[in-house]
Amino acid sequence: MSTDKAQATENGEAQAVQGDSLTVTDNRTGESYEFEITEGTVSAMDFRQIKVSEDDFGLMTHDPGLSNTSHCRSSVSYIGGEEGTLEYRGIPIDQLCDYSNYLEVAYLLIYGHLPTEDEYNDWVYQVTHHTFVHENIKDFMHGFRHDADPMGMLLASVGALSTFYPEAREIQNEHERHMAAVRLIAKMPTLAAFAYRHSLGLPYVYPDNELSYTGNFLNMLFKMSEAKYEPDPRVERALDVLFILHADHEQNCSAATVRTVGSSLTDPYTAITGGVAALYGPLHGGANIQVVEMLERIGSTENVPDFLEGVKNGNERMMGFGHRVYKNYDPRARIIQDHIEEVLEATGKQNPLLDIARELEKRALDDEYFTDRKLYPNVDFYSGVIYEALNIPTEMFTVMFAIPRTSGWMAQWMEWMNDEELRIVRPRQIYTGARDADYVPINER
Ligand code: ACO
Repeated sequence: MSTDKAQATENGEAQAVQGDSLTVTDNRTGESYEFEITEGTVSAMDFRQIKVSEDDFGLMTHDPGLSNTSHCRSSVSYIGGEEGTLEYRGIPIDQLCDYSNYLEVAYLLIYGHLPTEDEYNDWVYQVTHHTFVHENIKDFMHGFRHDADPMGMLLASVGALSTFYPEAREIQNEHERHMAAVRLIAKMPTLAAFAYRHSLGLPYVYPDNELSYTGNFLNMLFKMSEAKYEPDPRVERALDVLFILHADHEQNCSAATVRTVGSSLTDPYTAITGGVAALYGPLHGGANIQVVEMLERIGSTENVPDFLEGVKNGNERMMGFGHRVYKNYDPRARIIQDHIEEVLEATGKQNPLLDIARELEKRALDDEYFTDRKLYPNVDFYSGVIYEALNIPTEMFTVMFAIPRTSGWMAQWMEWMNDEELRIVRPRQIYTGARDADYVPINER
């Protein structure tokens, strides 16, 4: 083990002890190999030495979905999958939700420490003063059909931002990186709100710099003819907590996509567009839409037992349940629940889907099918219900996820750009197709 690695192990409290190794015997040749175990991992490249002959390519590891492959070192966020905990830069998510706010958390994720008062004030000022988008973006948005999905509009417009800030291609320049972080975090709510207003045929509302990050977002979504929009502080705070909860989640599908796209050394706007695209799918950011559709389909608490039978028979999937990493209650789902009543009180709404969700959860947590498979509610089980209570339409749910996740993507991208192990992501494959096939002219096929 090199001195560097030994140091990293000590400081990172990783489990590996100096001298840990793995001995592998290749039964095809009888040869044995010893590989170093560091930080609970072996290097996949070590396996390349295992060959049956000189001209053999060497052994590869096969891991679809990268379920058991670490693809980077990261100190941004940590998930305790077994115990159901989440930390950003080592700080438990519940503390951040209780004492911090989304913009402070965004700074923490990106710069690795809580800001001093001056740093915080400067950061908030910068984000607040970069919320406007170029007027041409508005024209660009006008080009979408009236019924265009807001997430598709967001995807396209974030991608377009790279053309407005070509200087962001200077990815080694610290100032340009910082400005891309400020601009992306500042403009994401504006783009999201414009996409929403477009779908309703309503005029776009420009940012109000006197409001908080979430207060301004609510203003851009919901302001009508009033001279000044005044957000309900309970709604503003609940949304801020939701944004904190969604800010980062280690190497999930979209963060891994941002790193993959970024590995080709493209600009951060383009890399983050990759994250938005990955988030669009129903197994990732789109899951809470499916949860609401599922709850609507169930219709009433009486139908819950039949629905659960359908899940157990494999005819249904319980959306908002289960997670690749959490094998316990997702801490984010618990924190969201704490805010649901408050939001319902503020908006004066009753949401019958909440009763169905609670009944589903109660019965599932009492059922061996779910407990044996360690299937618990994830963040999406209740996030759709709370967004509904906030008057956010279903088609905006994934957009609501993309806004705060931008800070996590940016933190992951910056960390990756500083990583001495950075190299272009280029996986291998097990080729299953034909070889040496001949081209057949079209008239002979
Ligand atoms: N409903 C019913 N059964 C489930 C569910 C579910 N939601 N999730 C997993 N299972 C079952 C699987 O069928 C499998 O059972 P088996 O062993 O009998 O075959 C077992 O639990 C293990 O599940 P996998 O599919 O191997 O788990 P994986 O880690 O690949 O999938 C995933 C994780 C995609 C999140 C899955 O649990 C799922 O589809 N959940 C519903 C979608 C969802 O809520 N996604 C949001 C995730 S959080 C986020 O992205 C922010």
